[in-house]
Amino acid sequence: LADRSYPIIVTLGNYSSLGEGISEHCGARSIVIICDDKVATHYLDPVTAKLAEQGFQVFCQTVPAGEGSKKLAVVEGLYDSLFDHALERSDAIVALGGGVIGDLAGFVAATFKRGLDYVQVPTSLLAMVDSSVGGKTGINHPRGKNMIGSFHQPRLVYSDITALSTLPARELSCGLAETVKHAVIRDGQFFDWLESNSDKIMNLDNECMLDLVHRNCSIKAAVVATDERESGLRGILNFGHTIGHALEILYSPKGMLHGEAISLGMVAASRLAVRRNMIPDETASRLEGLLKAFNLPVRLEDEVVVESVQEAIKNDKKVQAGKIKFVLPTAIGDCSFVEDLTSADIQWAVESLNG
Ligand SMILES: NC(=O)c1ccc[n+]([C@@H]2O[C@H](COP(=O)([O-])OP(=O)(O)OC[C@H]3O[C@@H](n4cnc5c(N)ncnc54)[C@H](O)[C@@H]3O)[C@@H](O)[C@H]2O)c1
Ligand SMILES: [Zn+2]
Repeated sequence: LADRSYPIIVTLGNYSSLGEGISEHCGARSIVIICDDKVATHYLDPVTAKLAEQGFQVFCQTVPAGEGSKKLAVVEGLYDSLFDHALERSDAIVALGGGVIGDLAGFVAATFKRGLDYVQVPTSLLAMVDSSVGGKTGINHPRGKNMIGSFHQPRLVYSDITALSTLPARELSCGLAETVKHAVIRDGQFFDWLESNSDKIMNLDNECMLDLVHRNCSIKAAVVATDERESGLRGILNFGHTIGHALEILYSPKGMLHGEAISLGMVAASRLAVRRNMIPDETASRLEGLLKAFNLPVRLEDEVVVESVQEAIKNDKKVQAGKIKFVLPTAIGDCSFVEDLTSADIQWAVESLNG
């Protein structure tokens, strides 16, 4: 990304080299760590200590954990605290947490005094493998998720897989959904590797997790590097996210998580690819098998209202000139865009998710 390029460090070591990493890549003197209250109980003290040891003046600001913090009122509160701490243009923000904190703190960094440096220190697997890389920042609006935001690349991404030990199991699976997505769209060998190592991964084997995060970041970074602002290729990262987002809107009030909705969305998209003779049935079954191994849903528990899904898809921000661009697999490791799916196709795919 030319002068917006940044290193992605994947390590295991209680944040021991975080301070040096930040000194090397940011000229900041003061740092505000933005964190959620759950992550703070585990990692805020050690991270603060490492940065203070490095000579930074460190301030911390926590927000309530959860998607509800991705809103303008919380952003305003954070701006106030940055003023209180007299943060200057040359200072930096550290986003310590999952994707919610990464998106929120990144947006604050993108907009405060027209843009500060920030460092992503992802603590959820989803954030390590997906949201911390690529520079998409933003918050939600009552009319839609992630509708207010900006592209603002971090100066450094520092993933310490130490944090995964406290991550709830369902959240781990959600990160694995994005992992499977990356493998399906770009890297068949990685998919094979995930199949062979699924038990070790579910047990958080350190070597495997270091490898897994690293390989995901390579795939995502390569896609972002060719299309930073999503005018073309970056759209393949939306595999599973068209029907998935629609299901998330309908079922998140009942507790469905993003990765779980995406798991179902990938199953539906692979069924569509079978229907269009783009892949054989066995390929779709392999995908389902891997998702199941990662404790992800491949069928809906209650009967879905297809019309509601269709409606939610129409309102998706990825719809352009009324056309819905689907990403469908052409093999494990490859995919293409398909724009001529009919609502009957989509109906069929969504119904195929019924138990
Ligand atoms: N910017 C992007 O490119 C991009 C991509 C994908 C998703 N996202 C966004 O990311 C968000 C989802 O991210 P997420 O799944 O990380 O959600 P999250 O940040 O809400 O984290 C999930 C839960 O896990 C907890 N948690 C995180 N790390 C922990 C740890 N190490 N130990 C214990 N608990 C921990 C959090 O407190 C939270 O309760 C959504 O808002 C989504 O829109 C952004
Ligand atoms: Zn996603």
